[in-house]
Amino acid sequence: MSQPVAKVSLTGIKPTGEPHLGNLIGAIRPALQLAEEYDSLYFIADYHALTSVRDPEELRHYTRSVAASWLAAGLDPRRTTFYVQSDVPEIFELNWVLSCMTGKGLMNRAHAYKAARDRNVEAGEDPDAGVNMGLYNYPILMAVDILIMESDVVPVGKDQVQHVEYAADIAGSFNHVYGDSYSFKIPKAIIPESGNGNTLPGLDGRKMSKSYDNTIPLFLPENQLKKLVRRIPTDSTPVEAPKDPDSSPVFQILEQFAPPSSADVVADTRKRLEAGGMGWGELKNVLFEVLLTELGPMRERYDELMKPGSDLDVVLDEGAQKARERASRVLSSVRKAIGVNR
Ligand code: ADP
Ligand code: TRP
Repeated sequence: MSQPVAKVSLTGIKPTGEPHLGNLIGAIRPALQLAEEYDSLYFIADYHALTSVRDPEELRHYTRSVAASWLAAGLDPRRTTFYVQSDVPEIFELNWVLSCMTGKGLMNRAHAYKAARDRNVEAGEDPDAGVNMGLYNYPILMAVDILIMESDVVPVGKDQVQHVEYAADIAGSFNHVYGDSYSFKIPKAIIPESGNGNTLPGLDGRKMSKSYDNTIPLFLPENQLKKLVRRIPTDSTPVEAPKDPDSSPVFQILEQFAPPSSADVVADTRKRLEAGGMGWGELKNVLFEVLLTELGPMRERYDELMKPGSDLDVVLDEGAQKARERASRVLSSVRKAIGVNR
């Protein structure tokens, strides 16, 4: 009997900044876990980043740095398909085809566009001020990313679920017209379990996020990592006083970041804080050590990959080839279905 074909999972990563601890816990690790179960594809959505990143050096750097981070975090390019969106020109051909299947009203209702409009209206501006067509058409390009790889599931954060629903809608519109000849698979969003489901706090105690400029990037040199750990806020409770670990962002990061092998360090630290006698400075030292141990080997691999002439380009070239094979199969069926093949 032949093996059942594994379902396809696809993850898109926008290269808009240096990956941080929150990304590792909340996105990278849970997405990599899916490779155990699915035929998994991961790609760097550089053309999606173009709606906001306008410095070519920056876009190049973030594309490489995000790719290197995922590889350093354990992505195995032999068992998965790992590529850069702009290396797959088939995506942009299908983008036009699916634009012609998509109602403008659907795009008007997309969250990101609606939020931009609401902000403008509130500020008394023209509703479309500062909105480029890339932002407006963003969900169509994302639908193409998903559909051209015949994805069954798309692991995303809550904010992206609507986009996956749009991809399903757009696939439905195409299938309705051309389904006798070719049908897209209808994709489904899944929200992977991230660590214990909590969000990691950042340097100011709010959610760690690039938008708040409060992140601890994954691959800082040691001395800078130490500096950032020192900046995480604490209160003025004296060393001797008992402390509530759960209201301390330092402890929360420790608890969520520590690997199972450090579970006893976390449990012991919790006890010592509750009992009194452990100061915030000492807690920060514990966190720093755990971060160093966890991130050290990853940083070595990351630094290697970021060197000019490293394996990174080879990996991405091979990934592009695999991705294009898949995409061109689908695209050629679509071309036949709509009548542009000769
Ligand atoms: P940012 O908020 O820094 O811009 P993104 O929006 O690019 O991060 O997030 C990419 C992924 O990382 C999302 O799936 C999100 O769930 C995850 N993520 C981001 N910040 C955190 C955090 N502080 N804790 C847990 N997961 C996070
Ligand atoms: N829009 C996603 C984000 O902002 C990135 C992305 C682009 C994506 N294309 C995708 C995610 C396809 C999943 C599938 O995070």
